[in-house]
Amino acid sequence: MQTEDRATEIVRKRYDRNAPLYDLMETLIESSSFRKWRALLWGKVEGSKILEVGAGTGKNFPYYPPDVEIIAIDFSGKMLARARDKAAKQNVKVDLRQMDVQNLEFEDNTFDTVAATTVFCSVPDPVRGLKEIERVCKPGGKVILLEHVLSANLILGGLMNLTNPLVVRISGANINRRTAENVTRGGLVAERVTDLWLGIFKLIEARKG
Ligand SMILES: C[S@@+](CC[C@H](N)C(=O)[O-])C[C@H]1O[C@@H](n2cnc3c(N)ncnc32)[C@H](O)[C@@H]1O
Repeated sequence: MQTEDRATEIVRKRYDRNAPLYDLMETLIESSSFRKWRALLWGKVEGSKILEVGAGTGKNFPYYPPDVEIIAIDFSGKMLARARDKAAKQNVKVDLRQMDVQNLEFEDNTFDTVAATTVFCSVPDPVRGLKEIERVCKPGGKVILLEHVLSANLILGGLMNLTNPLVVRISGANINRRTAENVTRGGLVAERVTDLWLGIFKLIEARKG
C-alpha cells in the first residue's frame, strides 16, 4: 500500500480497531433488509472481471455471482484478515488485496464492474476514490454502490449533520455524505438512484462514459 495521508490513517485505524466487533455490530441491520439489498446489488453485476471496493469482513461473499473473476480490496488489514478467514471457510474464490481506493494499483480500463457496499461513507476523500474507480473501470463499464446518504428531510438531515462527528469517531463512517452527487463529481455517469429506505439507503448505478 502507498504512503497514506493523516486523514486516511485515522479512518483505517478505526476500522482496524472495530474489525473484531464489526460483524456483531451489524447483526441487526444485516438480518433486516441488508441481505435483500446485497442480493439486489450483486444481481446487477455485468461482465467477468469484477472489483469489490472496501470488502470489509467479506459480507458480500455469499452473493458473488458464479464464474466471474473477483478482486476485492480493503485498506484495513484487520478487516481483510477476517475476510480471508471467511473466504477459506466458505470456499469463496476471491483475490483479496490490501489497497486504498484513493490510490488503486490497477491499470486503467481493467474492470467490467466495480461494486461497493457502505464504503463511500468512510473514504476520506470520496471524490478522489470515485475518480480512481472511473479510471480502472472499462469504458462503458458499470459501477454499483449501496450507500447510506444524508437525508433530504430537513429535520432528519439536520440530526444526521449534528450527530455525525460522534458517529464517525465511533464507527469510522460518516452519516451525512452526498454519495450520488459525488459519483457525478468523480466523472461517472449516474444512470439510476433507487431509494431503498427513507431516502437514506440508496442503490446507485453508474457507468464510465
Ligand atoms: C462500513 S464497512 C463496509 C464493509 C463491507 N463492504 C460490508 O458491506 O460489510 C466500510 C469498509 O470500507 C473500508 N474502507 C474505507 N475507506 C477505504 C479506502 N480508502 N480504501 C479501501 N477501503 C476502505 C473499511 O476498511 C471498511 O472495511
